[in-house]
Amino acid sequence: NWSMKNFIDDEVAKIRDIVGDRQVLCALSGGVDSSVVAALIQKAIGDQLLCIFVDNGLLRKDEAESVMETFSVGFNMRVIKVDAAQRFLDKLKGVSDPEQKRKIIGNEFIYVFQDEANSLKGVDFLAQGTLYTDVIESGTLTAQTIKSHHNVGGLPEDMTFELIEPLNTLFKDEVRALGSQLGLPDEIVWRQPFPGPGLGIRVLGEVTEDKLKIVRDSDAILREEIKKAGLDRDIWQYFTALPNMRSVGVMGDARTYDYTVGVRAVTSIDGMTSDWARIPWDVLEVISSRIVNEVDHVNRVVYDITSKPPATIEWE
Ligand code: XMP
Repeated sequence: NWSMKNFIDDEVAKIRDIVGDRQVLCALSGGVDSSVVAALIQKAIGDQLLCIFVDNGLLRKDEAESVMETFSVGFNMRVIKVDAAQRFLDKLKGVSDPEQKRKIIGNEFIYVFQDEANSLKGVDFLAQGTLYTDVIESGTLTAQTIKSHHNVGGLPEDMTFELIEPLNTLFKDEVRALGSQLGLPDEIVWRQPFPGPGLGIRVLGEVTEDKLKIVRDSDAILREEIKKAGLDRDIWQYFTALPNMRSVGVMGDARTYDYTVGVRAVTSIDGMTSDWARIPWDVLEVISSRIVNEVDHVNRVVYDITSKPPATIEWE
């Protein structure tokens, strides 16, 4: 009979049996799946787990610090933080095509990860947060597309790790329950989906440091207000995007010519289809005025009222 407790006991035993006294590497992103994998494997083998967390410079405000705080301090895990922001920005310079940006970010992640992994000795296993749905999706004709979209199995052929994928029979809701059981904080267990390419696809067109800052700061305000309004559990995803356009505004008695921030918030069951969230107008009002007042170079905020389909959740 299946229960979460049995699942944990079985997996812990299995992992110990396979790994023995060897070491396991895990790419920790702070997302639900990799976090739960890391917590489960740590439960099984403790310090034989080594995590690599790549700060690609495309994360949300305070995200890197919070991941390190949770795992390195809270869980006392061995986590290597790689500051690779400049590497990613350099590679993205002058690139504006969304699929090309995705590819660059995905590849750069692998290079950075490989550089780190190569410098380690005696690590035989790589743990991945592959879910049951990833296994199914990757088995279809469009496997390559879905893979590039969701960073599934994005491992170079010449890496000689054995894979450990303890979540590959679970659905997302089971992974969350498992995470709670393992003592992960709610911020992680209930974290909204966040794309692998991160803010790199929320700055539309070419990614620059200045534009990343606008998205990061406006997104932080949005998240704060959604949480304050008690809506964070009801909305599947909520974020800001920076379209590659400016428009005229007025500030005091001067005209401005500055950026527009797009607010996106959707309800969904699985991300395949979605509807725009009916956020109360007074909440939208606070979000809008805070963003134009607190974020430099923004003079206009728009709310995206399209469903998926025909739009997608992300803007790129
Ligand atoms: P779309 O925008 O296609 O997104 O409606 C559906 C879900 O997938 C996420 N998403 C991504 N996740 N790499 C990822 O790991 C990506 O390149 C990517 N693009 C979109 C999106 O946030 C939503 O949850």
